[in-house]
Amino acid sequence: MGAPVSCPSVCAERVGSQEAPADTCAVIVAGGSGERFGDPRGKQFVELCGLPLMCWSVMAFDRAPSVARIVVVCAPERAAEVEKDVLSRMTLTKPVVLAPSGATRQDSVRSGLEAVPRGLELVAVHDAARPLIEVEQIEAACTAVRADRALAGAILATRSVDTLKLVEGTTIIATPDRSFYWAAQTPQVFRTAKLVAAHRSAVRDEYQGTDDASLVERLGGRVCVVESTRDNIKVTLPEDLALAEAALERRLIG
Ligand code: CTP
Ligand code: MG
Repeated sequence: MGAPVSCPSVCAERVGSQEAPADTCAVIVAGGSGERFGDPRGKQFVELCGLPLMCWSVMAFDRAPSVARIVVVCAPERAAEVEKDVLSRMTLTKPVVLAPSGATRQDSVRSGLEAVPRGLELVAVHDAARPLIEVEQIEAACTAVRADRALAGAILATRSVDTLKLVEGTTIIATPDRSFYWAAQTPQVFRTAKLVAAHRSAVRDEYQGTDDASLVERLGGRVCVVESTRDNIKVTLPEDLALAEAALERRLIG
């Protein structure tokens, strides 16, 4: 098993600087049914600090200097609601288009990619269910990809803090070296052509991955990790909402 590819470190002063080229299309996937969360409205629509949860990630990408455009992927039958209750509640500076979601997250990303205009070098795929994403983190991932021609992409991830066990049934088979393990988050930023090719290949091979990087990796594309914070949680279970609210309030007040 290979170690994660280390990235050139991103100089803090340059992150979010006006020098970043606006060469990135954000694809924010918000087409899931939120079964584990359990709210009939869908977790992306529940209120978080006064706005529908998905507003927070859309605003972060809107503010990121690298981002030229935003594609929001949502269930087609909820498109009018997204326009009225989400997009029109924010003052956005970047063009936003909607794309119809699919049966799986991977299908939704593929649909979103179809709405990415030609000519944008990078695409940043993000879960709408991660409202705590910050502009600096988006910029760090974009900067990492731009900095190395050999990279197909860069993903936000955190180092594993727990000791990991490989378990079969309830029996521990192995205790792998934790230092090799990172937990993947979004955004995951790729050269657009590489991610489009990876999704096409996945359709051909009927491959379902659990994230976008895995589709690129299976074609031999090099993807690096950019160290993120544990704040950038994915709201998955009902209790996650209180955690997200507390973290966002701290940020808004602080
Ligand atoms: N997503 C999507 N289209 C799907 C499934 C998921 O756009 N067919 C999006 C979700 O809206 C979410 C992100 O992918 O922003 C991550 O997925 P997840 O956290 O699994 O959300 P859900 O699939 O909605 O939740 P669950 O798995 O509990 O049903
Ligand atoms: Mg899901």
